[in-house]
Amino acid sequence: MSALIEFKGFNKFFGSQQVLKEIDLTVESGEVIVILGPSGCGKSTLLRCLNGLEVAHSGSLRFNGRELLEPKTDWRQVRQDVGMVFQSYHLFPHMTVLENVLLGPLKVQKRKRNEALAQAEALLERVGLSDKRDAFPRQLSGGQQQRIAIVRSLCMNPQVMLFDEVTAALDPEMVKEVLEVILDLARGGMTMLIVTHEMAFARAVADRVVFMEAGSILEQNTPESFFTNPQSARAQQFLEKFSYVETMPKKSKIKELS
Ligand SMILES: Nc1ncnc2c1ncn2[C@@H]1O[C@H](COP(=O)(O)OP(=O)(O)O)[C@@H](O)[C@H]1O
Ligand SMILES: [Mg+2]
Repeated sequence: MSALIEFKGFNKFFGSQQVLKEIDLTVESGEVIVILGPSGCGKSTLLRCLNGLEVAHSGSLRFNGRELLEPKTDWRQVRQDVGMVFQSYHLFPHMTVLENVLLGPLKVQKRKRNEALAQAEALLERVGLSDKRDAFPRQLSGGQQQRIAIVRSLCMNPQVMLFDEVTAALDPEMVKEVLEVILDLARGGMTMLIVTHEMAFARAVADRVVFMEAGSILEQNTPESFFTNPQSARAQQFLEKFSYVETMPKKSKIKELS
């Protein structure tokens, strides 16, 4: 069986700046990939290229065995198969939760209302928000809105889900409820590409960690290997930044030092 997603020698430019360089990345069906790397290294651009929000410039990108970097690619269709959730949830403020979730299935996919409604209700139940189906987005917390955004995407029956820093704008107490939904999807076998700054979550959810730097993939490894024994100096530096809290001197020590 061929891979679900395959980037090969994939390049992307913004003007004269090359932001993705010779990307080779293969994702099997059911795999969970966490993409890490410093700000500006190209993580978001990589995800956005996969659902046609950015135009790639050269190389190959195959999805389900089909080459996407061809003029005849129907990106509207691809976007139904490739769900994406961002930092901001973009729910329609004048629509209820249920109306937001059903918009794609009914208007874009032209599905039968009863069938789509049953799926929407099951998904709302799954993320613990059945009681919010008739609420408006402004009546929900950030964490609740983000869970609705995930449900809205799932209700299109995507083959892969892309998550780009979906908890970055949330208050700390709401991060967990959103990450738990993603962990639940991982357990259910959903194929996912996840960009996150939550390192403990990354380690728990990933089948494979991809570390990027300046538009290139520097290393790919199991989370165990990556977090305990990063191969590149850049990955080591990156991980040290995340563990600085643990290595901070105690207050008494700070006094000694000053
Ligand atoms: N629309 C754009 N126009 C020009 N440059 C962009 C655009 N989007 C991103 N970039 C540049 O591309 C590089 C990669 O950005 P991005 O993919 O957002 O990185 P990351 O998500 O890893 O922080 C950065 O140098 C950024 O400034
Ligand atoms: Mg980004």
